[in-house]
Amino acid sequence: MGDLNGKVFVMTGGAGGIGEATARRAHAEGACVVITDREAAPVEAIAAELGDRALGLAVDVTRRTDNERMVAAALERFGHLDGAFLNAGIEGEVGPFDSRSEAAWEKVFAVNVHGVRLGVEAVLPALRRGLGGSIVMTSSVAGLRGAAGLAPYVSSKHAVVGMMKCLAAELGPEHIRVNTLNPGPVANRMMQSIEEQANPGHGEEVHQSFESRIPLGRYVSNEECAGLAVFLLSDAASGCTGNTYVVDGGLCAQ
Ligand SMILES: NC(=O)c1ccc[n+]([C@@H]2O[C@H](COP(=O)([O-])OP(=O)(O)OC[C@H]3O[C@@H](n4cnc5c(N)ncnc54)[C@H](O)[C@@H]3O)[C@@H](O)[C@H]2O)c1
Repeated sequence: MGDLNGKVFVMTGGAGGIGEATARRAHAEGACVVITDREAAPVEAIAAELGDRALGLAVDVTRRTDNERMVAAALERFGHLDGAFLNAGIEGEVGPFDSRSEAAWEKVFAVNVHGVRLGVEAVLPALRRGLGGSIVMTSSVAGLRGAAGLAPYVSSKHAVVGMMKCLAAELGPEHIRVNTLNPGPVANRMMQSIEEQANPGHGEEVHQSFESRIPLGRYVSNEECAGLAVFLLSDAASGCTGNTYVVDGGLCAQ
C-alpha cells in the first residue's frame, strides 16, 4: 500500500460499482480523491467515510461546467492534480440495431463519449501545470469486439478507445499518459440490467450463459477492475500509454 501517496485524482461515476471500488482503492493507496457522480448524497457519504483525503461532489459528466467544477474543487482542496479516472457510463437499451430512437443513441454517446471528452478537456490545463499525469478512461471489452443487441453501447466504447489512442499520441510529449480500462462482464448493477433487458424475467439464465463463455467461469469483480485502474494511475505504469488494459477472466482469449 502507499503507491499513490501524495497523488490527487478526480473520478467520475464514483457512486457505486467500478468507480466506487477504484476511489476506495486509490484512497487506501494514499491518494487524495475527488469522487463524483450525478447525485451528491452517495459520493458525499463515501467521501465522509474515507475521511480527510476524499471529497464527494455532484458532477454530470455531460456538462462542461460540471467537469470544470470537479477540477476546480480538486485544486482548491488538494492543491494540484495528477490524473483522472473517467469512468461514468450507461448501458443504454438492449435490442436490435434499428429498434432505437435517435434520443436513445444520443443519450449513450452524450455520457459515454462526450462525457469522457469533456472530462479530458477539463483536466488538461491542470495536468499540464503539473508537468504530466495519467488519464484512465473506462471502455470495455465492448470497446474491442461486437455484441448483438448492444450497438449504441459497443459503438460508444469503441469511440473511447479511438479517443484514447489519439490523446496518447498527442499528449505523450507532455508526459501525460492515457489508457483505457477494458473490463469484461462485471458482477454488478450494470450487467444485471443488461441481462434483464436481454431476456426480461430470465436475467439469471442470460447470466449463466454469459458466464459459461468465460474461461475463469465467472464475472470479474469491481475490486479486480479497481486494481488495474489504480495500477494505470500510478507511477508503476510509467511506461504505459496508448493502450487497452483488459480484465475479463479470459473472455477475449477465445
Ligand atoms: N458492469 C460491467 O460489466 C462493465 C463492463 C465493462 C465496462 N463497464 C463500464 O464501467 C463503467 C462503470 O460502470 P459500472 O459497471 O460500475 O456500473 P454503474 O452503473 O454502477 O456505474 C456507472 C456510474 O456512472 C454514473 N453516471 C451515469 N451517467 C452519468 C452522468 N451523466 N454523469 C455522471 N455520472 C453518471 C452512474 O450514476 C453510475 O454510478 C462504465 O463506463 C461502464 O460502461 C462496465
